[in-house]
Amino acid sequence: MCGIMGYIGDREASRILVDGLRRLEYRGYDSAGVATLVNGHIEVRRTVGKLDNLEKLLATSPLDGTIGIGHTRWATHGPPSEQNAHPHRAGQVVVIHNGIIENYLELKEALVAKGRTFHSETDTEVISQLIDEHMSQGLDFLAAARAAVKQLEGSFAIVVFCDGDKSRLLTAKTATPIVIGLGEGENFVASDIPAILDHTRQVLFLEDGEMAEVTRQGVNVSTFDGEPVEREPRRITWDPITAQKGGFKHFLLKEIHEQPQALIDTMLGRIRQEEGDVWLPELDQLGTEWSNIRRIYLTACGTAWHACLVGKFILEEMARIPVDVDYASELRYRKPIFGPDTMLVAVSQSGETADTLAAVEEAAAAGSKVLSICNVLDASIPRRSRAVLYTHAGPEISVASTKAFTTQLTALYLLSLHVGRQLGRLDEARGRALVHDLVNIPSLIQETLTRGKQLEKIAKKYGHASDFLYLGRGINYPIALEGALKLKEISYIHAEGYPAGEMKHGPIALIDEELPVVVLLPRDPMYAKTLSNLKEVEARGGRIIAITDAPTPDLEEIAWEVVTIPRANHMLAPILLSIPLQMLAYYVACYRGTDVDQPRNLAKSVTVE
Ligand code: AGP
Repeated sequence: MCGIMGYIGDREASRILVDGLRRLEYRGYDSAGVATLVNGHIEVRRTVGKLDNLEKLLATSPLDGTIGIGHTRWATHGPPSEQNAHPHRAGQVVVIHNGIIENYLELKEALVAKGRTFHSETDTEVISQLIDEHMSQGLDFLAAARAAVKQLEGSFAIVVFCDGDKSRLLTAKTATPIVIGLGEGENFVASDIPAILDHTRQVLFLEDGEMAEVTRQGVNVSTFDGEPVEREPRRITWDPITAQKGGFKHFLLKEIHEQPQALIDTMLGRIRQEEGDVWLPELDQLGTEWSNIRRIYLTACGTAWHACLVGKFILEEMARIPVDVDYASELRYRKPIFGPDTMLVAVSQSGETADTLAAVEEAAAAGSKVLSICNVLDASIPRRSRAVLYTHAGPEISVASTKAFTTQLTALYLLSLHVGRQLGRLDEARGRALVHDLVNIPSLIQETLTRGKQLEKIAKKYGHASDFLYLGRGINYPIALEGALKLKEISYIHAEGYPAGEMKHGPIALIDEELPVVVLLPRDPMYAKTLSNLKEVEARGGRIIAITDAPTPDLEEIAWEVVTIPRANHMLAPILLSIPLQMLAYYVACYRGTDVDQPRNLAKSVTVE
């Protein structure tokens, strides 16, 4: 949710911290702050709003020092304010934190009873207060921090340092991520890899229940109980430029255009064209034959949930296994029938979404096999899963998901093909045709991207509307939902997605001459039926915007706009149809002047329930 950055070395810390936070700004952005150790005393600068505000403050009130921590915050406790922004100081201890301390009220009461005064409404402040309290009882900094983290319940990733100790940063984590970047005579701590890529590619990931002492010379990892932990560094291959905007006006537009490459990267090394099969050795970790699996549960949140809805169609068609799809926030509280013959497939871009993580844990505890589809290496969800099918979309910075979505669809297609072939439900010839169609998709996306200008014009023509309706049928109904979500997220226009056949059961009442109705109309067995649904829209004056690979005269007659896209096999059509909807949402958002990459009230990764 929030961005964390820490630095210890011999360079000016505040600059490195702000630059790192800039790369993490997508994680949270209602306030920001940094703290550095200057002449044995920690100084803090915090502001409400974006990092630009913090930078302005640092320009007028600079911070020296070569050791420090920085944070961008998305409020969970207390409103966005300078006082609630991180870092939080108590006595000589200063802390930044991601996550939620569930027992903070209890801890706070006990600390207040000891005469401590709190200065914020946050749960985070109990951490610095606790450590400082333990130090005032005679513990040294490390022992005090260890004692404090053992008292905390909930999810946390923290970085902490202290006035009297020039030599180290301490970091600890439970459910939210911490990565430590290893440099030469300097080291870094961050909540996500892009923050440190400009400086190093050698990283260490902390596991739950671990803390690390980070000095200029090295890193000591141990458990909360003080047991030393040996951990090999890993090398990250992401190019820092991929985490920047390139020539595009917004990350969102860049990420929309990165989709051909993202899909190629997701297929890379996995395609066996000759055999009409795919190669997914990572699934061996599941330790089971697919013939033992009677039911698959697909679970996720938001956009990733829409990918699951499409996944149900593809898996059932190719693998002929019954599939249930649940919002992770619902699945975790109902009583699904999990067991050794069920497979939970959790889909998540970030791999940190709290509800999806909880669903994974429920399923694993109930004996189900768990496979995750994820974009972020070693995130919490993959770490809790038996096997992981990584999408290779690269860093997705814009809050609204685009390339992560279409790579999730690609991964679900790969998975379905794999299972279908393993179970003998797809023969080699059919497999070859399906692989061939998949391999062609990146170039069809490239062609679809050329419709940008037309969509920009459409956006200007209809962008003033207060509501949009999106219609699709069958496997493309989830894409109508996704199109509506995209528009809502970034343009703040109310939008609803519906299966076209459901329209006459209620939503038809909404249709008037003001309502743009975006309809997905690939040439498939539902084409004629959807067309007849559209005639009802036309009869009521609705403005039809059709996205189709079959611009028939009948359609041209009733639609106000027709966007033609290339033809794909029906199980891949959802990928292609998503592209114009992403661009439409993008250009409407630009027309309305919203904050495209960081829409209000949203965060990239929702690590709280
Ligand atoms: C997508 O545009 C959204 N910002 C959101 O719905 C997102 O897909 C959802 O929060 C799930 O995130 P995850 O894929 O990182 O788990």
